[in-house]
Amino acid sequence: MTGYISDDKRKVTTHRLIEMKERGEKISMLTAYDYTMAQIVDGAGIDVILVGDSASNVMAGNVTTLPITLDQMIYHGKSVVRGVKRAMVVVDMPFGSYQGNEMEGLASAIRIMKESHADALKLEGGEEIIDTVKRILSAGIPVMGHLGLMPQSINKYGTYTVRAKDDAEAEKLIKDAHLLQEAGCFALVLEKIPASLAARVASELTIPVIGIGAGGAVDGQVLVVQDMLGMNNGFRPRFLRRYADLNTVMTDAISSYVSDVKNCFFPNEKEQY
Ligand code: KIV
Repeated sequence: MTGYISDDKRKVTTHRLIEMKERGEKISMLTAYDYTMAQIVDGAGIDVILVGDSASNVMAGNVTTLPITLDQMIYHGKSVVRGVKRAMVVVDMPFGSYQGNEMEGLASAIRIMKESHADALKLEGGEEIIDTVKRILSAGIPVMGHLGLMPQSINKYGTYTVRAKDDAEAEKLIKDAHLLQEAGCFALVLEKIPASLAARVASELTIPVIGIGAGGAVDGQVLVVQDMLGMNNGFRPRFLRRYADLNTVMTDAISSYVSDVKNCFFPNEKEQY
């Protein structure tokens, strides 16, 4: 077997992630939305599992992350937590559950934590949501920030292209990153921004910066697990490395099963009672 399995079998906490940044150890993070996948991802040694609102696309087939509900995120969060022993489990707060005001955000955050038993939450945005972030943090709930491409704002951007290429947007992102750190966030995700900007943010912040499409000079990487396993043939952005071609593996296995059933090759005598 190839790969990297940590000797440290202790549960990953916010403190351990900050220690990892301090000693220069990169943080590995992947999404999972269900129990079976969470068991595999955790068993393979991942540091952080994100129950992303990308479940809206990947699990439900929606075009955007906007339709997924608080109840649905809690369902996915619960399923993942049951499958995990070591990784930190972070649940995305879905669109519409925190943008209204601080008390709405706090109530949604408390529901997710109480019902899913996750370790932390992730919210998209900077200055616009900083009071909500502070309110959630004041309840003792660890918060991971998310800047750069923020899929919950897709209708504002109109495109999933690289963000913060111009100076004004880059300056705002840097300011927001500092605001989130000062508020008390334990980590920050940067999605689809120039590698040089992500490197600058990671070097200025003391909290870990996890990138997706943000280059290698950050403190860790996150990908959607179905994408990196090659389950989804239609999505091939430049930042994605496919570590397997499960689409082919699964299609071959399922078509063999169909053929065996049709030809009466399954079940055989040993596969019955
Ligand atoms: O929902 C998600 O999967 C995410 C990652 C892309 C960071 O937010």
